[in-house]
Amino acid sequence: MIELQHVSKGFNGVKAIEDLSLNIARGEFTVILGSSGSGKSTLIKMINRLLEHDSGRITFAGDEIRSFRPEDLRRRMGYAIQSVGLFPHWSVEKNIATVPTLLKWPPSRIHDRVTELMTLLQLDATLYRKRYPHQLSGGQQQRVGVARALAGNPEVLLMDEPFGALDPVTRAALQLEIARIHKAFDKTIVLVTHDIDEALSLATRIVLLDQGRIVQSGTPLQMLSSPANDFVSDFFGRSDVGIKLLGLQSVATRLRAGEHAAGAPVLASSSLREALSMFLSRRVDRLPVVDGDGQALGVIDFSDLLDLRP
Ligand SMILES: Nc1ncnc2c1ncn2[C@@H]1O[C@H](COP(=O)(O)OP(=O)(O)O)[C@@H](O)[C@H]1O
Ligand SMILES: [Mg+2]
Repeated sequence: MIELQHVSKGFNGVKAIEDLSLNIARGEFTVILGSSGSGKSTLIKMINRLLEHDSGRITFAGDEIRSFRPEDLRRRMGYAIQSVGLFPHWSVEKNIATVPTLLKWPPSRIHDRVTELMTLLQLDATLYRKRYPHQLSGGQQQRVGVARALAGNPEVLLMDEPFGALDPVTRAALQLEIARIHKAFDKTIVLVTHDIDEALSLATRIVLLDQGRIVQSGTPLQMLSSPANDFVSDFFGRSDVGIKLLGLQSVATRLRAGEHAAGAPVLASSSLREALSMFLSRRVDRLPVVDGDGQALGVIDFSDLLDLRP
């Protein structure tokens, strides 16, 4: 859906992105991960032409992005950023309605769309639609920013550290919200972050950047279990890789079918990390495994957790 081929971009002769090639497929949740200054924002801004690339080719739905009018491109790609960028003298409603207003939707349709998005992002529409950004908490402003990015029903959602400034609880809630939106509407999402856990929990594909180049890209499981080099293992190794791997794999992958054990069961769809807490809290080394209907499937043994190969 979005393809970059040998793209470079520099500022004052210094390369921020260097010979970068990347293919973003429709429906994927791509997380661009990297430390500060690695070129993440530059990369995402070139996709919607907030920045022009110096060389190489960027295509969207098959056409070079330079052949689109910037306003058409931005209509088809919602954009949300950390600093939110809400218009301070506009109400919540007017902020969310930015793109639908540009598209000249009838007022009743705009009204309904604002209500729908506020509900989706768990903002009470009656209470908040007439308020101004400064009357909202940081988390609420961030929700308005995401609602605004989604308002014109864009094919792609671009987000640059959208949850950066939030406390952990609000952050987790918004992450869940975005994961839900990705699944429910089958959106193509590109999210920039420097937060390893955020990347691991949201991405269908992680693209790890360093100094304007892709070091490795792959599923969260691939990045943790087969790092391409020391940079990748060091980057992810900053925090408990073993526990993170357990969080990415389901009990079903370690099922001993047909065996039996006593006690309260664990769902086959639970993560191995959840299974680990059950083993520890119940002080048992075998748990019965059931499916979503409560049908017995087999057991998982504590020793099965140690087999971390994907
Ligand atoms: N407008 C700009 N002018 C000059 N240098 C810039 C500009 N934007 C980014 N850079 C430089 O490009 C590099 C990549 O920056 P950026 O894409 O913002 O990184 P990230 O988002 O990963 O922190 C950095 O070295 C940064 O200083
Ligand atoms: Mg940035």
